[in-house]
Amino acid sequence: MKKTSIYHQPSFHYLLDSEAQEETREDYDDKQVVTEIMARCFIPTSITTTSWESFHFIGHEIRITEAMDCYGAVVWPSALVLCYFLETNAKQYNMVDKNVIEIGAGTGLVSIVASLLGAHVTATDLPELLGNLQYNIFRNTKMKSKHLPQVKELSWGVALDTNFPRSSNNFDYILAADVVYAHPFLEELLITFDHLCKETTVILWAMKFRLEKENKFIDRFKELFDLEEISSFPSLNIKLYKAVKKNRRSV
Ligand SMILES: C[S@@+](CC[C@H](N)C(=O)[O-])C[C@H]1O[C@@H](n2cnc3c(N)ncnc32)[C@H](O)[C@@H]1O
Repeated sequence: MKKTSIYHQPSFHYLLDSEAQEETREDYDDKQVVTEIMARCFIPTSITTTSWESFHFIGHEIRITEAMDCYGAVVWPSALVLCYFLETNAKQYNMVDKNVIEIGAGTGLVSIVASLLGAHVTATDLPELLGNLQYNIFRNTKMKSKHLPQVKELSWGVALDTNFPRSSNNFDYILAADVVYAHPFLEELLITFDHLCKETTVILWAMKFRLEKENKFIDRFKELFDLEEISSFPSLNIKLYKAVKKNRRSV
């Protein structure tokens, strides 16, 4: 089966908002890294009955089954950016034996990579996403990961005290890729970040900028968290952020 990088597929040219970009050194570096990130994804060129893509991280081929009927049913570029970051910064952001939760996990790629890096992972999303999420996570981590990942429902802002009581939340990292866009649950998303985050928790969040709404969310987010931009990919309109709770005591 012939495989090609999605970066070279015409259908992915929409990823590059490269209007009149000058060939500056920064642009060149951005394109180099983005090419490398996108080269981690391969899709079969032959038509098959199930839709899947494969990704290459942590020395593993990760096969992701997708569906075309909702936002969480495909792998979004922000997820690749976050996976690439986790892989290439594994020393600084060591996942081994860490408690990690992913919100809006979708097809599960980020959770799978965190799990292959050695974390105790809880992958969460809306109830209708959990079947496919569980399938992808199980097939890609079974006999490969140090700790068996969990899949749990987490609808932002819903039953948090019951399903994720603050007293038992003990997450070292919260991971999130492309969870901010034109949906009506942005305030609930913020509440969820706040609920899951302890003083010692680090949020790693890849964010795709599309509309003004995203900038407003960042402003709201900064009221509760200290936000640091750790990477930027202008050709994808994606930024990678690290955040911790505001006014936390040093640990
Ligand atoms: C754009 S997709 C990103 C999926 C995945 N993180 C990725 O980057 O490939 C947004 C994800 O957020 C989830 N989501 C949207 N609204 C949600 C809500 N109210 N509660 C929980 N998850 C939600 C969707 O189901 C979807 O998986």
